[in-house]
Amino acid sequence: MNIIIINGPNLNLLGKREPEIYGSLSFDDYLESLQEKYPDINISYYQSNIEGELVNIIQETGFISDGIVLNAAAYTHTSVAIADAIRSIKCPVVEVHISNVHKREEFRHFSYLSPACMGVIAGFGLDSYRLAIEALINANKELQDEH
Ligand code: DQA
Repeated sequence: MNIIIINGPNLNLLGKREPEIYGSLSFDDYLESLQEKYPDINISYYQSNIEGELVNIIQETGFISDGIVLNAAAYTHTSVAIADAIRSIKCPVVEVHISNVHKREEFRHFSYLSPACMGVIAGFGLDSYRLAIEALINANKELQDEH
């Protein structure tokens, strides 16, 4: 299976950024442990602070991957372009948030992306990414069983 994790703005600062909300582990260190846990899955990673670059990577990988784990960060709450990109591709997308956005400010309760995604995982810290990968593995198994 080929899975890509896509992180949006400010997530390059994980470990340094508001550690009381997002934890003190860098994403690179977390990614390494995730790749060790799933040696049979090709897990690639992309991060950008720029909305159009997120649209580009969704378009580029959405026809050749088995799934996308997407934390669009603040663009979750603002981006029609990213929602349209998700609707344009073939592979399932799981929306992920490290924090429980529903426990936070009201503007974080709304997501343009959720209706375009297979599902949403929020509030489990970095473990939200692993849970999203589990969801994509199960969806892929169901797809294989159908054929
Ligand atoms: C976030 C939640 C967003 O509201 C916020 O803008 C982020 C990170 C999360 O992972 O909890 O940057 O997506």
